[in-house]
Amino acid sequence: MSVRYLGFALLFWFPGLQQAQIAPEPCSAPILNGGYFVPDQESYPHDSKLLYSCGNGLKPAVEGWWATSTCENGKWSHDPQCINETSCLPPTTPNAVYDVNPEGWYEERDKIRIKCLEGYEHKDRHATAVCQNGAWPSLPVCERSIESCSEPPKMPHAVIINMKFQEVFAEGSHLLYECEDGFTTEGEEEKKIYCLYGNWTESRPCRPDYTCSFDTSPYDIFDRSQVIRLKEGESKEFPCRYPDYRSIIKCANRQATYTQCCHIQRPSDQC
Ligand SMILES: *[C@@H]1O[C@H](CO)[C@@H](O)[C@H](O)[C@H]1NC(C)=O
Ligand SMILES: *[C@@H]1O[C@H](CO)[C@@H](O)[C@H](O)[C@H]1NC(C)=O
Repeated sequence: MSVRYLGFALLFWFPGLQQAQIAPEPCSAPILNGGYFVPDQESYPHDSKLLYSCGNGLKPAVEGWWATSTCENGKWSHDPQCINETSCLPPTTPNAVYDVNPEGWYEERDKIRIKCLEGYEHKDRHATAVCQNGAWPSLPVCERSIESCSEPPKMPHAVIINMKFQEVFAEGSHLLYECEDGFTTEGEEEKKIYCLYGNWTESRPCRPDYTCSFDTSPYDIFDRSQVIRLKEGESKEFPCRYPDYRSIIKCANRQATYTQCCHIQRPSDQC
């Protein structure tokens, strides 16, 4: 069943919805100076396409000698327009931005200033482009700055927390990282690495945050298998196989020990 049909069925069952539904509007014929379009109609239904071309010395304001525009709820997807053949369309500039002319095109001899994205720089310090006879003869190139960094190296037991997918990181930018559970670094609260002259600064290593680790799996008194990590002097209760019984696992002198299973109501120092 098509969505259209479903919509129709819903309208049938919920006539109140009918008022909320607004039919998409048709478009009126464009005003196209210096060009012609097909089909030539007074009105175009929503979703219909118009094909247009331009007369001598002119070209459409989009790529190609023939252009299409689509009627989208009363508006053309782009206003069919013929511009001077010597005008330029916006250039494609990888890793760069520039102020886009709201008209959508540039007249001959118009100049644009290209700005490289962070981490990129102008090749040969060349940052402007001039429209000449319908083209941009020498477009600036933004190349990766030697001072920018690639993706940071993998750090054991650490996770970078503010990274978006990015190939290049600008000089001076930083990333935050956290240690995995059970691991920590001494010192600073915020863990950062910086991109400095093409390399990431050394991160403080994430070290284990525990002194003892005790694996319950070789012992059949325990309820389940788990690795329990404890700091020096710390103890934890762990359930035994018998309901309401538990063992106390302790870390002392860097050694983990466990008590016999004892009832949960018995004080732990008597186990
Ligand atoms: C296009 O522009 C040039 C000058 O920039 C002008 O001489 C020429 O007449 C224009 N062509 C048309 C068809 O308007
Ligand atoms: C970055 O690190 C590499 C490898 O450790 C080294 O060869 C290079 O000189 C460093 N770059 C800078 C700018 O310090």
